Amino acid sequence: MLTIAVTAENADEPRVAVSPETVKKYTALGATVKVESGAGTRSLFTDDMYKAQGAEIVGSANEALNGADILIKVRRPSSEEVSQLKDGALVIANLQPFDDRPGLEALAGNKATLFSMEFMPRITRAQSMDVLSSQANLAGYKAVVDAASMFGRAMPMMTTAAGTVPAARVFIMGVGVAGLQAIATAKRLGGIVTATDVRPATKEQVQSLGGKFIAVEDDEFKQAQTAAGYAKPMSEAYQKKQAELVAEHIKSQDIVVTTALIPGRPAPRLISAEMARSMKAGSIIVDLAAERGGNCELTKPGETIEDNGITIFGPINYSGRLAFNASSLYARNLLSFLTTLINKDEKAVAVNWDDDIVKGTLVAKDGQIVHPSLTQSGN
Ligand code: NAI
Repeated sequence: MLTIAVTAENADEPRVAVSPETVKKYTALGATVKVESGAGTRSLFTDDMYKAQGAEIVGSANEALNGADILIKVRRPSSEEVSQLKDGALVIANLQPFDDRPGLEALAGNKATLFSMEFMPRITRAQSMDVLSSQANLAGYKAVVDAASMFGRAMPMMTTAAGTVPAARVFIMGVGVAGLQAIATAKRLGGIVTATDVRPATKEQVQSLGGKFIAVEDDEFKQAQTAAGYAKPMSEAYQKKQAELVAEHIKSQDIVVTTALIPGRPAPRLISAEMARSMKAGSIIVDLAAERGGNCELTKPGETIEDNGITIFGPINYSGRLAFNASSLYARNLLSFLTTLINKDEKAVAVNWDDDIVKGTLVAKDGQIVHPSLTQSGN
């Protein structure tokens, strides 16, 4: 019997690793899905909804974990949880692999096989497993909707008998998955949208969504994208030129949504306190990078700050603000990945260690951390 365990996340995490839809699919693959009672509540999935699709609802995390072959989670599980699984069991989660190294080593020490969804390679075959995309997309949408509701003025231009209401000016900083969805959402709400990034490929993407692209387009900009499609950290000289450009532009903006990230590093600081304070009273900054330190100097991760009439909103776990959608998509990402790790006929775990998707996401095996990005730097 192949058992998949799903336990409740901690208090800060409203998402869950399984949806009623994916319970049904796992059951069809021959697996038994044990869900800790209440694990889906904050994503609006009730025990009954899971049960109706074939899940076994259990009263405690221990009952779900005991002797399970696979544990799926949103966040990094505790060592204690993992120690209750079968030897060599698979653990699949967002392990936040660059955070809390001793904790990661302790987890690896349980000899479970650990996979981190954040490391999913960005290849065509893995698109349906790409958790960073599925979650960032929702976050980009929600950030603009949040900003619009906090903004004490209208977003679209309105021509009325009593006069014209001007459109809000919306500036999106960082045009990855979240930024593109933010641009599209701000356009739909009638904002005048500008956007910036350091990767040249984003220029056309911004323009195709009806936004205006603003960036320092020098030689360094032309080389700023890594082979994996991510941004490189920029030189001090570039950052200085970028800061001058942003300082000038931001003064006239009503809403700024920042999404800039560099994998494995703190978020780049793009808005100084002085730049933020140069905005008009009533302006809104939503910092999607808050969890990695924030793109704005004034951001306090997890808090809403008022400074000089400007509101700086920096929630942690942005996609968790749309937990139902975020969990539904994450659960599908996991299902796609897990389907490649299970032998349906034998109802057993069957990992192909030569698969690029497995190699890309494998963090630890047989008690050792093995992922190249976690071993090369020697930390
Ligand atoms: P991300 O979340 O790592 O970063 C967000 C954005 O911030 C990126 O566009 C990045 O260039 C930008 N950024 C970083 N430093 C900056 C700075 N100093 N100033 C301004 N902007 C800065 O990126 P995300 O959303 O994960 O996307 C990365 C790339 O991967 C994109 O090209 C995206 O289209 C691509 N992608 C490819 C997929 C596939 O082929 N399967 C799936 C999803 C995304």
